[in-house]
Amino acid sequence: MRIVILESSQVVAQRSAEIILDQVDRSPESTLGLATGGTPLGTYSELVRAVEQDRIDFSGCTTFNLDEYVGLDAEHPQSYRYFMRKHLFEPAGFDLDHCHFPSVDFEDILASCDDYEALIEDHGGIDLQLLGIGTDGHIAFNEQGSSLASRTRIKALTAQTRKDNARFFDSIDQVPELAVTMGIATILDAQKIVLMATGLGKAEAIRATVEGPVSASIPASALQLHPKVTVLLDEQAASLLERADYYRDVELIQRRLETSVAPK
Ligand code: PGA
Repeated sequence: MRIVILESSQVVAQRSAEIILDQVDRSPESTLGLATGGTPLGTYSELVRAVEQDRIDFSGCTTFNLDEYVGLDAEHPQSYRYFMRKHLFEPAGFDLDHCHFPSVDFEDILASCDDYEALIEDHGGIDLQLLGIGTDGHIAFNEQGSSLASRTRIKALTAQTRKDNARFFDSIDQVPELAVTMGIATILDAQKIVLMATGLGKAEAIRATVEGPVSASIPASALQLHPKVTVLLDEQAASLLERADYYRDVELIQRRLETSVAPK
């Protein structure tokens, strides 16, 4: 894992946006795996800004979102389809026909989970996957105890996740109990992964993810098994890392190497 400790959540947003812009610059038809929640909002604002400045064109990209609540329709303001349209897809000019979500049509959920996996595969897999992390170490809606070999499926949300997400709803009773989510193995199939975390509330989950054992009890720890993961943290989210000084040293060396070999 490449651990990058940055001075603020704003810089985390900027750095994550740079990684996405670089990917799409190099490969305008990239397949992006995208996340919802409070953390990626800053990233998406940066991407919208880049489009407004004519720096990038996302119309050739295909996207796959990590998850969606069961029981909210696409026009519900807390559905992830609505969130993505509002914060990224419409203002940044994505082609909505190429923006995919797991189907939450209850009648057909099992077959549609397999279809989602097949669709990702048909597109040659995900080039770059963006991730947040739950306070309990979940990624997407792979709650604690999720199999490290899991694929897209329906999951019951934990009381902690529903509590954490209640801030987006009028009351906790309105937070859905079920979601369809990519599995941990689905996420690990991506070519490159960027995990972002900001704020003290994520510090313990980040410590366990980066420095703890690989365990289904901390689903994000499975990222230790992936060869190309960048973890972007603000100082608060990094505050419980025992090897923080080492990660800072490595990053300085890495940045120096990158700038010395960067094409002119
Ligand atoms: P957050 O959610 O970005 O709203 O903190 C992250 C997550 O639960 O994966």
